[in-house]
Amino acid sequence: MIKKGIVLAGGIGSRMSPLTKAVNKHLLPIYDKPVFFYPLSVLMLSGIRDILIVVNKGEQNQFKKILPNGKNLGINITYAEQRYPKGLPDAFLIGEKFIGNENVALILGDNFFYAQSLTKKLKECVKLNKGATVILHPVRNPSYYGIASINKRNKITKIIEKPKKKFSNLAVTGLYFFDNKVVSYSKKLKTSKRNELEIVNLLNKYKNNNELSAQFLGRGGAWLDTGSIKDFYDTSAFVSALENRQGLKIACLEEIALNNKWINKRNVKIAIKFYGKCNYSQYLSTLIKKNHLNK
Ligand code: TTP
Repeated sequence: MIKKGIVLAGGIGSRMSPLTKAVNKHLLPIYDKPVFFYPLSVLMLSGIRDILIVVNKGEQNQFKKILPNGKNLGINITYAEQRYPKGLPDAFLIGEKFIGNENVALILGDNFFYAQSLTKKLKECVKLNKGATVILHPVRNPSYYGIASINKRNKITKIIEKPKKKFSNLAVTGLYFFDNKVVSYSKKLKTSKRNELEIVNLLNKYKNNNELSAQFLGRGGAWLDTGSIKDFYDTSAFVSALENRQGLKIACLEEIALNNKWINKRNVKIAIKFYGKCNYSQYLSTLIKKNHLNK
């Protein structure tokens, strides 16, 4: 069972410069919420309540202005700083103490997931006791992503970063579930030519032990990486279209916490006061009205 999760929200954000020169991209808005609310909501939907958010050096206070400690969401948030973008597996070195003897989920701070029965799928993934699970989703340009092929039992047979020759269209998304071996495996990784620890090398360690499984969002699901300007605005447009049509918000953290029965109406009232007069607060107030339809 996985009870701990890490949101990796550091990095340079070079593709989004100059927007990211002064501000961490995970604090920029995807429509009506900061980018990092979306991956955080995914961990919360999976039932994970103990969460480490990794940010760049000197940025903790900015994040804490929005989310001080998670208390009002019924979760435990801790922050840690990454000195420089040393690669995704660095999360497990920074988070070694936080992880302790437990298994852990990792989500990239700029990844967006939306799918039917997402919560059900996530709950399956966090049942993991041994090995690792990645979420795969088809993409049109496999040469831009980490790509995997699978066998009939959904075990991963091959995984290559930005393959030049097409062998599959299934991209490895930025959501991973690992057993505790992830810490010792990460310690053994060598830095690559670009001076980073590579997630593909980490995943290959599990694959070589026949311990790397795949899960899928399904055809109706959306996985967007908000790291380029185009994807960033496309994701905003997607959230805006869905929220305005349905009147239901994506990644409203208080709503998820309320549905999970981690908080009560009083916490939602505190949140309304904290956010002030805004559309988000208005939505929160509908959640605690008696006849709110939660579906
Ligand atoms: P990337 O998109 O690979 O890197 P980046 O965010 O710095 O952006 P760019 O490529 O435009 O320079 O990172 C994926 C996610 O992981 C993103 O949310 C940032 C995070 N990240 C870290 O927190 N630390 C790291 O060392 C790396 C490589 C990424």
